[in-house]
Amino acid sequence: MTSLDAVLATTRYQSYVYAYPHKTAYRPLDPPRPLGPLWAGERRDALFLYVHIPFCEQRCGFCNLFTRPVPDTALVDAYLATLTRQTHVVRRALDEGGAFAIARAAIGGGTPTLLDAHQLERVIALLRAMGKSRGVPMSVETSPETALPDRLAVLVESGADRISIGVQSFVDAECKAVNRPQRAADVHRALRAIRDARPATLNIDLMYGLPGQTTETWQTSLAAALEYRPEELYLYPLYVRPLTTLGRKGAAATDRHRVALYEQGRDVLRAAGYHQVSLRMFRREDAATATGPVYCCQDDGMIGLGCGARSYTRAVHYSTEWAVGARGVRDILDRWIQRDDAAFAVAEYGFALDAGEQRRRWLILSLLSDDGLDLAAYRARFGSDPSADFPELAELAPHGLAIHTRDAIKLTPEGLGRADALGPWLYSADVQRRMAEYELA
Ligand SMILES: C[S@@+](CC[C@H](N)C(=O)[O-])C[C@H]1O[C@@H](n2cnc3c(N)ncnc32)[C@H](O)[C@@H]1O
Ligand code: SF4
Repeated sequence: MTSLDAVLATTRYQSYVYAYPHKTAYRPLDPPRPLGPLWAGERRDALFLYVHIPFCEQRCGFCNLFTRPVPDTALVDAYLATLTRQTHVVRRALDEGGAFAIARAAIGGGTPTLLDAHQLERVIALLRAMGKSRGVPMSVETSPETALPDRLAVLVESGADRISIGVQSFVDAECKAVNRPQRAADVHRALRAIRDARPATLNIDLMYGLPGQTTETWQTSLAAALEYRPEELYLYPLYVRPLTTLGRKGAAATDRHRVALYEQGRDVLRAAGYHQVSLRMFRREDAATATGPVYCCQDDGMIGLGCGARSYTRAVHYSTEWAVGARGVRDILDRWIQRDDAAFAVAEYGFALDAGEQRRRWLILSLLSDDGLDLAAYRARFGSDPSADFPELAELAPHGLAIHTRDAIKLTPEGLGRADALGPWLYSADVQRRMAEYELA
């Protein structure tokens, strides 16, 4: 393992750890795992259901998500037809193991609201076919151009309680510089439309470290977002990633720029009554939290539907392959649309987590958010002590990055600001090797 001193000496923006292991550690599963038996042994009373809509109005210059810009109508129709087939196959596979319950749902992308109102109704019908009932919390991603009243109405009326909009910046020139043609006037129209639709939670994504962004323009974006009193705000540090337009241009995002804007953003949001949940996430202190069955993100299963979605059981994470370049995305999508039903009944590509990796996943996902690592919950789940399993945790406190209490290990504000370096520091040697060997298409 790399020493913590060495980690702290390099960039603090190593990787956004939204899942562990990262999808670049996935490989073909040999042999492929039939979904029925794979899910039969899982805890199934609080599953997360995710649907991926891999389409957008454009490919933004910073974005490496699995998405295809400006799809034609025939492609979207074919995608929804295949998504319908996949849903029925996956539902039958889950039924093999008996009863199960969906505790949360999300429609993400890409930009799900690129679909029209009728198409969104079809997607929601598929969630229902998977057993999602109306009262289950559901989040949907949208964008300024596609957050249209009729689409939002369909979503909120069918139970979406959280609408998350990517804004990135309220300064038109900053958006233009990252190939995201967007006008602040449209952003305001979209935000008003979301508030009018009345989901319980509005989330706004903003980015810092954009080319040309200054403390003044960042303040403009923060203040404009705060006018809507969103229940949640995500502040994303810009990453310049391979095969994106910014990456191909050789653009750079410096630590100095991002750290200064991070601290400014954090302080502005704190002063406005927001609580920092993780490096990126801020929640309004007086906002009600979602109701419904408790979902434990460190451990509970996720059923992903659609091309580009990931699925997690405790022992196996799986998905379709991933690409960023136009040809790579097109090939994966075309193959997925033509898959026969039998191919949807098995997991073919992913990562099998042994006992050590399951512990590591729990550790990383817990430690990087403000609740920290709950020692009793870890012991109850694994029958061992995190400090014995991961002796390197002892290095954090002397560096001022974490505090150890009787009940938990929690990052300090300094540690939280360095979450994108501390997460990768905790990756296993096997995951690091696989990620380094991965060739992106
Ligand atoms: C699925 S998108 C949000 C919804 C919608 N597609 C949109 O862009 O309006 C997810 C979010 O990830 C963030 N993001 C994507 N690529 C990023 C990058 N390279 N660096 C930092 N943040 C990034 C952006 O803030 C973006 O809003
Ligand atoms: S940031 Fe959003 S709109 Fe832009 S390419 Fe990525 S998913 Fe699509």
